[in-house]
Amino acid sequence: MIGIFDSGVGGMTVARAIEELLPAAPILYLGDIARTPYGSKSARTIIEYSIENTRFLVKNGAEVIVVACNTAASVASERLRQEFHLPIIDVIAPAVAEALRSTRNGRIGVIGTRATVQSEVYQREITRVNPNFRVISQACPLLVPLVEEGWTNRRETKMILRRYLHPLKDQQIDTLVLGCTHYPLLTELIQPRVGKRVRLIDSSRATAAHLRRHLADQPDLLNRAGHQPADNRYHVTDLTDSARQIAARIFGRTIELISL
Ligand code: DGL
Repeated sequence: MIGIFDSGVGGMTVARAIEELLPAAPILYLGDIARTPYGSKSARTIIEYSIENTRFLVKNGAEVIVVACNTAASVASERLRQEFHLPIIDVIAPAVAEALRSTRNGRIGVIGTRATVQSEVYQREITRVNPNFRVISQACPLLVPLVEEGWTNRRETKMILRRYLHPLKDQQIDTLVLGCTHYPLLTELIQPRVGKRVRLIDSSRATAAHLRRHLADQPDLLNRAGHQPADNRYHVTDLTDSARQIAARIFGRTIELISL
């Protein structure tokens, strides 16, 4: 079983991408809605919550963990790898690999929560491979609430995006990592504001592709449900109407959320 956790329901963008690529692999999802958002919290708290989330998934049968939350991945993945003895896959490495493949001019933009940008993880990982590359990061703390309110096509959201993205455009990036669970839902607004020549890296898709490669030598885990779509379970630490709505928007269908 694939255990996925996120600070809330945004990580369902990653779960959706995994469902699409690995339809027979059973998913156990945990969205920590009761304690969301993580993006504005301290590293210590994010690590503590991430350990608790992983413990829940392991206890309930997860054989591989996907850290869908960019914030948790940026701050806590290393610690999770020390604490737990099973594969921990996160959204950072697959997005970094794709950004490195994509860039032609070595100028890569990254947008994410405050905690993600402050961790400088993308900068570290990208310059470790090529010290000449430049990473230009921008924290976009207003975007998560706008997406959660469903304001994905409002004038106000477009204005805020322009403010956030202008400095990156100015720096002539040719690749932009969408370093947050919620940003794939803004792709259509982001693309015209950075210009069509800039390639957007959707970490949810990159992570699903990475997971598929990782599981290629474990056919058992992939096909346990035979040819039937897997019986996926979506748990949340608090159940709200807004969470139900966002989940339905992400998947394009009603998702049964199980409250812990
Ligand atoms: N899931 C978080 C991320 O991808 C966004 C929401 C939050 O701040 O908790 O960074």
